Amino acid sequence: MLICNQIAMVRQQVQEWKKSGLSIGLVPTMGYLHEGHKSLIDAARKENDRVAVSIFVNPMQFGPNEDLASYPRDLEKDAKLCEDAGVDLIFHPQPEEMYKQGFCTYVDMNGLTTELCGKSRPIHFRGVQTVVLKLFHIVTPDRAYFGQKDAQQLAVVKRMVQDLNVGTEIIGCPIIREEDGLAKSSRNTYLNEKERQAALVLSRSLQVGKALVDAGETNAQAIRQAITGEIEKEPMAKIDYVDIVDFETITPIETVQGSVLVAIAVFIGKTRLIDNFIVEK
Ligand code: PAF
Repeated sequence: MLICNQIAMVRQQVQEWKKSGLSIGLVPTMGYLHEGHKSLIDAARKENDRVAVSIFVNPMQFGPNEDLASYPRDLEKDAKLCEDAGVDLIFHPQPEEMYKQGFCTYVDMNGLTTELCGKSRPIHFRGVQTVVLKLFHIVTPDRAYFGQKDAQQLAVVKRMVQDLNVGTEIIGCPIIREEDGLAKSSRNTYLNEKERQAALVLSRSLQVGKALVDAGETNAQAIRQAITGEIEKEPMAKIDYVDIVDFETITPIETVQGSVLVAIAVFIGKTRLIDNFIVEK
């Protein structure tokens, strides 16, 4: 497995693969890899001749009061997970390699990024789109793999690829959960024992919402209220949003029909966690 810090090094390897007619799968990550990332790597491994994983804590997608400095990092452990999972190349650039002095070009979007996480993280998706498009230009993957846990990110990247005619297929992969239901996230490491317990309210509240949908409820407001009510039972939880939107356009809906995203963001102490489920009706 090759570990590259330089863009030129990645390009050289990718060119060799392309010359040999090999397909490439890319798993973009910010590192501190867990079972969720591993499932993306496994999917990429199955569908491509070569697998590249990028590990880059992208400063551009963090707001001024967010956790850029404290975001967990452990390259050695990540490299071991990648090696064991059969990854061929890790791209681990420093910020200066990705954003040279004078950098001033961004990828932005008018729709999709204003709702849900876009409300409390106004510059987040511009940073995500910019870095993801850069990674696509560097690695030129045939396919790229994103977790459904960041469902809005998945929808945004799909839209960007379609709008800008990027020749990479975007594959969404299911949420991986702990045994007790908590969605796997690198940010779970911020939680102390009490908070870890309280964090179960996210998956529990979504189960309440899902049960309503399964029982035939299509009124989005009724589903929102049921989820909100469940979260409010947990004293350590503070709701950022509970929203029901069209999964393709990320616009709020009143009636559940078509492809629908039920998404929540909740603070447990200082840690902001997200979770969701998707309904196809
Ligand atoms: O989901 C993430 O880890 C990041 O947002 C991504 C896609 C790697 C871009 O920095």
